[in-house]
Amino acid sequence: MLLKNVVILKPGFLEPRDIRIDGKIIAEIGQNLRPEQNEEVIDFKGSKCVSVGFVNTHTHSPMSLLRAFAEDLPFNKWLFEKILPAEARLTPEAVYFGAIVSMMEMAAHGVVAFCDMYFHMDAVARAVADFGMKAVLTRGLVDKDGDDNGRLQEALELYEKWHGFDDRIFVGLGPHAPYTCSRSYLRKILDVAKVNDMLVTMHFFENSWERERYTPQEIMSIGFDQVHFIPVHCVHLDSDELKLLSSSYPSINVVSNMKLGNGVPPVTKMLKEGLKLTIGTDGPSSNNSINPLFDIRVLILTQKMSNPENVKVTEAYAMLTKHGYEALRLNGGEITPGMPADLIFIDLFNPQLQPTNRVLENLIHTFDGRVFATMINGRFVYYDGRFPTVDAQEVLKKFTTFSLMVTGTES
Ligand code: NI
Repeated sequence: MLLKNVVILKPGFLEPRDIRIDGKIIAEIGQNLRPEQNEEVIDFKGSKCVSVGFVNTHTHSPMSLLRAFAEDLPFNKWLFEKILPAEARLTPEAVYFGAIVSMMEMAAHGVVAFCDMYFHMDAVARAVADFGMKAVLTRGLVDKDGDDNGRLQEALELYEKWHGFDDRIFVGLGPHAPYTCSRSYLRKILDVAKVNDMLVTMHFFENSWERERYTPQEIMSIGFDQVHFIPVHCVHLDSDELKLLSSSYPSINVVSNMKLGNGVPPVTKMLKEGLKLTIGTDGPSSNNSINPLFDIRVLILTQKMSNPENVKVTEAYAMLTKHGYEALRLNGGEITPGMPADLIFIDLFNPQLQPTNRVLENLIHTFDGRVFATMINGRFVYYDGRFPTVDAQEVLKKFTTFSLMVTGTES
């Protein structure tokens, strides 16, 4: 496929270029490239800017089914009284459609890959396979009743079945949190991660009360510093504890933290410490949108309110792209020949992006996030308001039925 006359979001690339895609890969970038025989050609005539896609490093994709179901509640009530009882009613089919609807929202907002933690993960994997997105999938692991009821075994079965599928689906391990997993269970999970070289992600100091029960040193020393680790939230950490995360990829979920009353992570201090921060939206029932550009905007504002020099545009863009790829251990994160064709197309005629010579600044500080098209491994999953890989009407019909089944008529 030959994409003609697109403006590549890259320093020194203000003039339109042509991009040749060969299968899943960016094959060539140049000017006046000639179509080869039988090659599909799309000429964007300079109307679209192309960026590498965004990575959402933490969500619970099926929770779109529970969006707006538990509003205006303190965290403990939100989780234990509303969300968990509703989740007990979820079926694999419901989870499948919840994941698809979340991927529709993410794709329309430029997301090409995400890291998920939930249950009925085989259904999520089927949804990701069908939709065409990239994902690292983790079965949420909990043993707070002294038994994990086969969850770790399920995670390994998921790994055997799906890890490496179509160069898009990868399986990691997702211990839920230090307050829902015993220390011996965490040790066991980390041993399994080391043996299989699996990525590990866990909610990490999201709540202030966690500090009364354990310290970051205690948790990290279980072995989280010896695996590829995405600690999620990292809100309640002291300055001298940040270096504990120097080899990990913190997922910052600032909108969820603010909405659930958990505070704001110390992002500026983390950046000064040299941490490779990434952006997570958290689940659709605690944000409630899963548009990383909205999260990055809020994150920047929370840091600039005390000092406008905090969080540069280039740092924000790296969180959305390059660091996200590294966090999920995906090849890519830049527009260069040989890299996977994970591209998002943004309409340059959008008034929010004017003047277009400062398109990166406008993308980060102004753009509402709705892209024109999203391509993953050379295939469009979103194009001009349509979702070529799914029957959107049918999906939304089923989704609504399942959402009502789970949440009932409760408001
Ligand atoms: Ni979460």
